[in-house]
Amino acid sequence: MKHWDHFLEPYKQAVEELKVKLRGMRTEFDLNSAHSPIEFVTGRVKPIASILDKANEKGIPLDKLDTEMQDIAGLRMMCQFVEDIKTVVELIRKRNDFEVVEERDYISHKKASGYRSYHVVIKYPVQTISGEKNILAEIQIRTLAMNFWATVEHSLNYKYKGQFPDDIQLRLKRAAEAAFRLDEEISIIRGEIQEAQAFFTRKKELKQDGEN
Ligand code: GTP
Ligand code: MG
Repeated sequence: MKHWDHFLEPYKQAVEELKVKLRGMRTEFDLNSAHSPIEFVTGRVKPIASILDKANEKGIPLDKLDTEMQDIAGLRMMCQFVEDIKTVVELIRKRNDFEVVEERDYISHKKASGYRSYHVVIKYPVQTISGEKNILAEIQIRTLAMNFWATVEHSLNYKYKGQFPDDIQLRLKRAAEAAFRLDEEISIIRGEIQEAQAFFTRKKELKQDGEN
């Protein structure tokens, strides 16, 4: 529909721009041969069907989507270590190209589902031919383990529409606990892992220098 194309265009623009900007942070760490707190970045615009479902569920009027639906533009930043999340959040807070309007810490306070992530909602200015338009975007910052669990749970949620059979519910809960423990175990040997990764990066750089 023409109206939707028009409405979603600044969101598409924002997601594309933010992907470049947030991935640029990772490139900078790589260039400095420093451990990157960012493993990878993804982004998407919420599909129209999902926007309509959520608006319906939450009683959001369609003419208030721009102020009341915060995740039409969505970015995800994946980290190797739980400790990296804080670093990434601080980097986001310090930027001057957008404003943080809300933060939700589902790491200190996990959701009843077992979901863990750090959410930052930003106000991002998009330049359009009719001037600047501020749009809301949600950045989810999480570890690879948190991401794996959330992705799997999301797929199952889609299949069962939130009404999980008991055995699946139990497995999901146990999987959430396992993901939490994985993050804890990896944290303990973080120094060791970073040292090994730095070593292999240096080796690769030396090899490339030799080839040039
Ligand atoms: P939403 O209606 O989900 O947006 O809730 P909210 O407005 O309270 O925002 P919240 O920060 O809780 O969640 C926003 C987003 O976080 C969702 O769109 C999902 O991407 C993710 N999320 C939140 N809870 C869960 C969960 O239990 N499982 C999974 N897989 N993702 C979740
Ligand atoms: Mg939300």
